[in-house]
Amino acid sequence: MAGLKTVIFPVAGMGTRMLPATKVTPKELLPVYDTPLLQFAVREALDAGATRLVMVSHPSKTAIEDYFGPCDDLLAELQSKQKDALVRAVRATNMPADVELVFVMQHEQKGLGHAVLCGSDAVLDGPVGVILPDDLILGAPALAEMADAFDERTMGSLVAAQRVPRDKVSSYGVFDCADGDATVLPAKGFVEKPAPRDAPSNLAAVGRYVLSPAIFDALRATGEGAGGEIQLTDAIAALGRVHAYRFSGTRYDCGDKDGLVRATLAVQEQRGRAHLSVAAE
Ligand code: G1P
Repeated sequence: MAGLKTVIFPVAGMGTRMLPATKVTPKELLPVYDTPLLQFAVREALDAGATRLVMVSHPSKTAIEDYFGPCDDLLAELQSKQKDALVRAVRATNMPADVELVFVMQHEQKGLGHAVLCGSDAVLDGPVGVILPDDLILGAPALAEMADAFDERTMGSLVAAQRVPRDKVSSYGVFDCADGDATVLPAKGFVEKPAPRDAPSNLAAVGRYVLSPAIFDALRATGEGAGGEIQLTDAIAALGRVHAYRFSGTRYDCGDKDGLVRATLAVQEQRGRAHLSVAAE
Protein backbone atom coordinates (compact mmCIF):
# COMPACT_ATOMS: atom_id res chain seq x y z
CA MET A 1 0.00 0.00 0.00
CA ALA A 2 1.49 3.28 -1.11
CA GLY A 3 -0.06 5.43 1.59
CA LEU A 4 -1.58 7.91 -0.82
CA LYS A 5 -2.07 11.17 1.08
CA THR A 6 -2.69 13.67 -1.72
CA VAL A 7 -5.03 13.58 -4.68
CA ILE A 8 -5.04 16.32 -7.32
CA PHE A 9 -8.23 17.05 -9.27
CA PRO A 10 -7.70 19.10 -12.45
CA VAL A 11 -11.03 20.99 -12.68
CA ALA A 12 -10.09 24.24 -14.42
CA GLY A 13 -11.35 23.24 -17.89
CA MET A 14 -14.09 25.19 -19.61
CA GLY A 15 -16.20 22.14 -20.46
CA THR A 16 -16.78 23.27 -24.03
CA ARG A 17 -17.94 19.82 -25.14
CA MET A 18 -20.96 20.19 -22.84
CA LEU A 19 -22.10 23.70 -23.76
CA PRO A 20 -24.58 25.21 -23.17
CA ALA A 21 -25.04 23.04 -20.02
CA THR A 22 -21.66 24.25 -18.78
CA LYS A 23 -22.21 27.93 -19.54
CA VAL A 24 -22.70 28.72 -15.84
CA THR A 25 -22.41 25.27 -14.22
CA PRO A 26 -18.93 23.71 -14.11
CA LYS A 27 -18.97 20.38 -15.92
CA GLU A 28 -17.70 18.73 -12.74
CA LEU A 29 -20.97 19.68 -11.04
CA LEU A 30 -23.25 18.23 -13.71
CA PRO A 31 -25.41 15.55 -12.11
CA VAL A 32 -24.98 11.86 -12.66
CA TYR A 33 -28.55 10.92 -11.70
CA ASP A 34 -28.60 12.66 -8.29
CA THR A 35 -24.97 13.40 -7.50
CA PRO A 36 -22.47 15.78 -9.12
CA LEU A 37 -19.68 14.10 -11.05
CA LEU A 38 -17.06 15.67 -8.80
CA GLN A 39 -18.53 14.10 -5.71
CA PHE A 40 -17.94 10.63 -7.08
CA ALA A 41 -14.30 11.61 -7.63
CA VAL A 42 -13.97 12.96 -4.08
CA ARG A 43 -15.50 9.76 -2.69
CA GLU A 44 -12.98 7.72 -4.66
CA ALA A 45 -10.06 9.79 -3.30
CA LEU A 46 -11.31 9.35 0.27
CA ASP A 47 -11.69 5.61 -0.32
CA ALA A 48 -8.02 5.57 -1.37
CA GLY A 49 -7.07 7.09 1.99
CA ALA A 50 -6.30 10.64 0.83
CA THR A 51 -6.22 13.34 3.50
CA ARG A 52 -5.49 16.30 1.24
CA LEU A 53 -7.59 16.97 -1.84
CA VAL A 54 -6.18 19.60 -4.18
CA MET A 55 -8.63 21.16 -6.64
CA VAL A 56 -6.77 22.86 -9.48
CA SER A 57 -9.56 25.17 -10.55
CA HIS A 58 -10.22 28.43 -12.39
CA PRO A 59 -11.39 31.73 -10.85
CA SER A 60 -14.58 31.61 -12.96
CA LYS A 61 -15.63 28.30 -11.38
CA THR A 62 -16.54 29.52 -7.88
CA ALA A 63 -19.51 27.13 -7.79
CA ILE A 64 -17.07 24.31 -7.03
CA GLU A 65 -15.90 26.05 -3.85
CA ASP A 66 -19.51 26.85 -2.95
CA TYR A 67 -20.50 23.22 -3.39
CA PHE A 68 -18.08 22.08 -0.68
CA GLY A 69 -18.72 25.13 1.51
CA PRO A 70 -20.91 25.38 4.62
CA CYS A 71 -24.70 25.14 4.20
CA ASP A 72 -26.03 25.58 7.73
CA ASP A 73 -29.30 27.22 6.65
CA LEU A 74 -30.12 24.43 4.22
CA LEU A 75 -29.35 21.77 6.86
CA ALA A 76 -31.42 23.57 9.51
CA GLU A 77 -34.35 23.77 7.09
CA LEU A 78 -34.15 20.07 6.18
CA GLN A 79 -33.76 19.07 9.83
CA SER A 80 -36.79 21.11 10.88
CA LYS A 81 -38.81 19.12 8.31
CA GLN A 82 -37.27 15.79 9.42
CA LYS A 83 -35.92 15.10 5.94
CA ASP A 84 -33.28 12.77 7.31
CA ALA A 85 -32.17 11.15 4.04
CA LEU A 86 -31.62 14.57 2.49
CA VAL A 87 -29.71 15.74 5.58
CA ARG A 88 -27.40 12.73 5.13
CA ALA A 89 -27.01 13.44 1.42
CA VAL A 90 -26.11 17.09 2.05
CA ARG A 91 -23.77 16.23 4.94
CA ALA A 92 -21.91 13.82 2.64
CA THR A 93 -20.67 16.90 0.75
CA ASN A 94 -18.71 18.00 3.86
CA MET A 95 -15.11 16.85 4.12
CA PRO A 96 -14.33 14.50 7.02
CA ALA A 97 -12.61 16.40 9.87
CA ASP A 98 -9.17 14.94 9.07
CA VAL A 99 -9.30 15.84 5.35
CA GLU A 100 -8.15 19.16 3.95
CA LEU A 101 -9.62 20.58 0.77
CA VAL A 102 -7.23 23.01 -0.95
CA PHE A 103 -8.00 25.18 -3.98
CA VAL A 104 -5.22 26.26 -6.35
CA MET A 105 -5.98 28.40 -9.40
CA GLN A 106 -4.80 27.56 -12.92
CA HIS A 107 -5.16 30.86 -14.74
CA GLU A 108 -4.09 29.65 -18.17
CA GLN A 109 -5.23 26.50 -19.96
CA LYS A 110 -1.86 25.02 -20.80
CA GLY A 111 -2.75 21.35 -20.55
CA LEU A 112 -3.15 18.54 -18.04
CA GLY A 113 0.55 18.45 -17.16
CA HIS A 114 0.48 22.16 -16.38
CA ALA A 115 -2.64 21.68 -14.23
CA VAL A 116 -0.97 18.94 -12.17
CA LEU A 117 2.16 21.09 -11.80
CA CYS A 118 -0.03 23.95 -10.49
CA GLY A 119 -0.91 21.65 -7.58
CA SER A 120 2.72 20.87 -6.69
CA ASP A 121 3.06 23.32 -3.79
CA ALA A 122 -0.01 21.87 -2.10
CA VAL A 123 1.00 18.20 -1.99
CA LEU A 124 2.00 16.20 1.08
CA ASP A 125 4.96 13.81 0.96
CA GLY A 126 4.82 10.45 -0.81
CA PRO A 127 3.11 9.34 -4.01
CA VAL A 128 0.43 11.59 -5.45
CA GLY A 129 -2.90 10.56 -6.94
CA VAL A 130 -4.60 12.34 -9.83
CA ILE A 131 -8.28 11.89 -10.68
CA LEU A 132 -9.84 13.31 -13.83
CA PRO A 133 -13.48 13.60 -12.71
CA ASP A 134 -14.74 13.28 -16.33
CA ASP A 135 -13.76 9.64 -16.20
CA LEU A 136 -16.31 8.17 -13.82
CA ILE A 137 -15.46 4.65 -12.65
CA LEU A 138 -18.29 2.72 -11.04
CA GLY A 139 -18.38 -0.69 -9.45
CA ALA A 140 -15.00 -0.69 -7.67
CA PRO A 141 -12.86 2.07 -6.14
CA ALA A 142 -10.20 2.36 -8.85
CA LEU A 143 -7.80 4.72 -7.09
CA ALA A 144 -7.80 2.61 -3.90
CA GLU A 145 -6.95 -0.47 -5.99
CA MET A 146 -4.13 1.46 -7.62
CA ALA A 147 -2.78 2.83 -4.33
CA ASP A 148 -2.61 -0.78 -3.12
CA ALA A 149 -0.81 -1.91 -6.26
CA PHE A 150 1.67 0.98 -6.44
CA ASP A 151 5.24 0.03 -5.45
CA GLU A 152 7.46 3.10 -4.98
CA ARG A 153 10.63 1.02 -5.38
CA THR A 154 9.81 -0.26 -8.84
CA MET A 155 7.32 2.21 -10.34
CA GLY A 156 7.52 5.81 -11.47
CA SER A 157 3.82 5.79 -12.20
CA LEU A 158 0.77 3.56 -12.25
CA VAL A 159 -1.88 4.69 -14.70
CA ALA A 160 -5.39 3.29 -15.11
CA ALA A 161 -5.76 1.58 -18.48
CA GLN A 162 -8.33 -0.04 -20.71
CA ARG A 163 -8.37 -1.36 -24.25
CA VAL A 164 -10.14 0.90 -26.75
CA PRO A 165 -10.96 0.42 -30.44
CA ARG A 166 -7.95 1.27 -32.66
CA ASP A 167 -9.77 4.15 -34.31
CA LYS A 168 -10.24 5.83 -30.91
CA VAL A 169 -6.62 5.79 -29.70
CA SER A 170 -6.01 9.37 -30.82
CA SER A 171 -8.22 10.60 -27.93
CA TYR A 172 -5.97 9.02 -25.29
CA GLY A 173 -2.54 8.52 -23.84
CA VAL A 174 -1.47 5.11 -25.20
CA PHE A 175 0.93 2.58 -23.62
CA ASP A 176 3.72 0.79 -25.41
CA CYS A 177 2.96 -2.51 -23.72
CA ALA A 178 3.10 -6.17 -24.55
CA ASP A 179 -0.33 -7.82 -24.82
CA GLY A 180 -1.46 -9.56 -21.69
CA ASP A 181 -4.19 -9.81 -19.15
CA ALA A 182 -2.10 -9.10 -16.04
CA THR A 183 -3.55 -6.41 -13.78
CA VAL A 184 -0.26 -4.48 -13.74
CA LEU A 185 1.62 -4.21 -17.04
CA PRO A 186 5.02 -2.53 -17.33
CA ALA A 187 5.19 -0.21 -20.35
CA LYS A 188 8.24 0.64 -22.49
CA GLY A 189 6.70 3.95 -23.46
CA PHE A 190 3.62 6.15 -23.21
CA VAL A 191 2.49 8.55 -25.96
CA GLU A 192 -0.21 11.21 -25.97
CA LYS A 193 -2.92 11.03 -28.62
CA PRO A 194 -1.07 9.14 -31.36
CA ALA A 195 -2.57 8.68 -34.82
CA PRO A 196 -4.01 5.13 -35.03
CA ARG A 197 -1.29 4.03 -37.48
CA ASP A 198 1.46 5.22 -35.10
CA ALA A 199 -0.07 3.94 -31.85
CA PRO A 200 2.10 1.36 -30.05
CA SER A 201 -1.00 -0.53 -28.82
CA ASN A 202 -4.70 -0.01 -28.14
CA LEU A 203 -4.19 0.10 -24.37
CA ALA A 204 -5.34 3.60 -23.41
CA ALA A 205 -4.97 5.71 -20.27
CA VAL A 206 -8.06 6.50 -18.22
CA GLY A 207 -8.10 9.41 -15.77
CA ARG A 208 -6.53 7.83 -12.66
CA TYR A 209 -2.85 8.14 -11.87
CA VAL A 210 -0.59 7.27 -8.94
CA LEU A 211 2.68 9.14 -9.42
CA SER A 212 6.04 9.30 -7.75
CA PRO A 213 6.63 12.82 -6.35
CA ALA A 214 9.51 13.04 -8.87
CA ILE A 215 6.76 13.74 -11.44
CA PHE A 216 6.90 17.44 -10.54
CA ASP A 217 10.54 17.79 -11.63
CA ALA A 218 9.69 15.87 -14.78
CA LEU A 219 6.78 18.24 -15.44
CA ARG A 220 8.98 21.31 -14.95
CA ALA A 221 11.28 19.91 -17.64
CA THR A 222 8.43 19.04 -20.05
CA GLY A 223 7.87 21.30 -23.04
CA GLU A 224 4.76 21.60 -25.16
CA GLY A 225 3.56 18.33 -26.65
CA ALA A 226 0.42 17.17 -28.45
CA GLY A 227 -1.98 20.05 -29.14
CA GLY A 228 0.67 22.59 -28.03
CA GLU A 229 -0.05 21.71 -24.37
CA ILE A 230 2.11 20.50 -21.48
CA GLN A 231 1.12 16.86 -21.37
CA LEU A 232 1.12 14.75 -18.21
CA THR A 233 1.71 11.74 -20.46
CA ASP A 234 5.04 13.17 -21.68
CA ALA A 235 6.27 13.80 -18.13
CA ILE A 236 5.23 10.28 -17.08
CA ALA A 237 7.12 8.83 -20.06
CA ALA A 238 10.22 10.93 -19.26
CA LEU A 239 10.13 9.83 -15.63
CA GLY A 240 10.22 6.19 -16.77
CA ARG A 241 9.14 2.96 -15.06
CA VAL A 242 5.61 3.47 -16.42
CA HIS A 243 3.01 0.88 -15.43
CA ALA A 244 -0.51 0.41 -16.71
CA TYR A 245 -3.21 -0.78 -14.31
CA ARG A 246 -6.22 -2.75 -15.56
CA PHE A 247 -8.86 -1.55 -13.10
CA SER A 248 -11.83 -3.73 -12.26
CA GLY A 249 -14.67 -1.16 -12.35
CA THR A 250 -16.56 0.21 -15.36
CA ARG A 251 -15.49 3.54 -16.83
CA TYR A 252 -17.89 6.14 -18.24
CA ASP A 253 -16.56 9.05 -20.29
CA CYS A 254 -18.64 11.83 -18.76
CA GLY A 255 -16.85 14.50 -20.78
CA ASP A 256 -19.09 13.22 -23.55
CA LYS A 257 -22.87 13.78 -23.59
CA ASP A 258 -23.74 10.18 -24.39
CA GLY A 259 -21.25 8.93 -21.80
CA LEU A 260 -22.92 11.09 -19.18
CA VAL A 261 -26.32 9.63 -20.09
CA ARG A 262 -24.94 6.08 -19.85
CA ALA A 263 -23.42 6.86 -16.44
CA THR A 264 -26.72 8.35 -15.27
CA LEU A 265 -28.60 5.19 -16.26
CA ALA A 266 -26.00 3.03 -14.49
CA VAL A 267 -26.31 5.05 -11.27
CA GLN A 268 -30.10 4.98 -11.54
CA GLU A 269 -29.91 1.19 -11.65
CA GLN A 270 -27.49 1.12 -8.71
CA ARG A 271 -29.82 3.30 -6.67
CA GLY A 272 -32.76 1.07 -7.52
CA ARG A 273 -30.81 -1.95 -6.31
CA ALA A 274 -29.46 -0.35 -3.15
CA HIS A 275 -32.56 1.70 -2.20
CA LEU A 276 -30.24 4.39 -0.95
CA SER A 277 -28.16 7.22 -2.26
CA VAL A 278 -24.41 6.85 -2.74
CA ALA A 279 -24.31 10.47 -1.70
CA ALA A 280 -25.71 9.50 1.67
CA GLU A 281 -23.51 6.44 2.32
C1 G1P B 1 -6.45 13.20 -20.84
C2 G1P B 1 -5.04 12.67 -20.96
C3 G1P B 1 -5.00 11.39 -21.78
C4 G1P B 1 -5.94 10.37 -21.16
C5 G1P B 1 -7.37 10.96 -21.02
C6 G1P B 1 -8.27 10.01 -20.27
O1 G1P B 1 -6.88 13.60 -22.13
O2 G1P B 1 -4.22 13.67 -21.56
O3 G1P B 1 -3.71 10.86 -21.80
O4 G1P B 1 -5.96 9.20 -21.94
O5 G1P B 1 -7.34 12.21 -20.32
O6 G1P B 1 -9.57 10.48 -20.20
P1 G1P B 1 -8.17 14.55 -22.34
O7 G1P B 1 -9.36 13.66 -22.29
O8 G1P B 1 -8.16 15.56 -21.22
O9 G1P B 1 -7.97 15.19 -23.68
